[in-house]
Amino acid sequence: MKKAVAKAALDYIEPGTVVGVGTGSTANHFIDFLATMKGKIEGTVASSVASAERLKKHGIQVYDLNAVGELSVYVDGADESSHHLHLIKGGGGALTREKIVAAASKTFVCIADESKLVDVLGKFPLPVEVIPMARSYVGRELVKLGGRPELRDGFVTDNGNVILDVHNLQILNPVELEQKLNNIVGVVTNGLFARRPADVLLLGTPAGVKTLK
Ligand code: A5P
Repeated sequence: MKKAVAKAALDYIEPGTVVGVGTGSTANHFIDFLATMKGKIEGTVASSVASAERLKKHGIQVYDLNAVGELSVYVDGADESSHHLHLIKGGGGALTREKIVAAASKTFVCIADESKLVDVLGKFPLPVEVIPMARSYVGRELVKLGGRPELRDGFVTDNGNVILDVHNLQILNPVELEQKLNNIVGVVTNGLFARRPADVLLLGTPAGVKTLK
């Protein structure tokens, strides 16, 4: 199902443009499919070091985001999606760069298997990227909001920070919570993609790829 949605995302690629590329196992399938049309695109911007390496292995050009303008499309997976296409991302720890590339893209195409579609976000622990010296302080603030933060052991992000995975959140208002979490000093980003949700969700089901908009 992950492969099927990754392939379906090729239909959203505009020839001659720079494509934003996400991170994770579904995004990896997308990278492999993108290689089949690498001659038709100008290049890519990657949301993680790992994706950049995979793209380069395929001989696909990877640009620094600062070297290009607005991206036509960003293709990435998700850990959870609501029916409003609000997402939880960051299971792979790349949430900050993912959010930056999503923000810089005209269209965000999310690719996921149907297990990721939920009625209420929050069963998947919400990743929050934190400046290391603020870890304990941010943890206490997250507890005040009703969460149970857990340090992702031994993990350092591509930006040199740590991740707190926040359990026990029932996210009924993702737009508000996203903003609230970003206002805690020491938080770099949180994994809620609600203020800039996906524009299209390609959902892999046993009956084929479903498109939600
Ligand atoms: C990476 O940081 C995440 O946001 C991924 O997009 C997410 O974890 C989805 O991963 P899979 O495609 O491996 O399920």
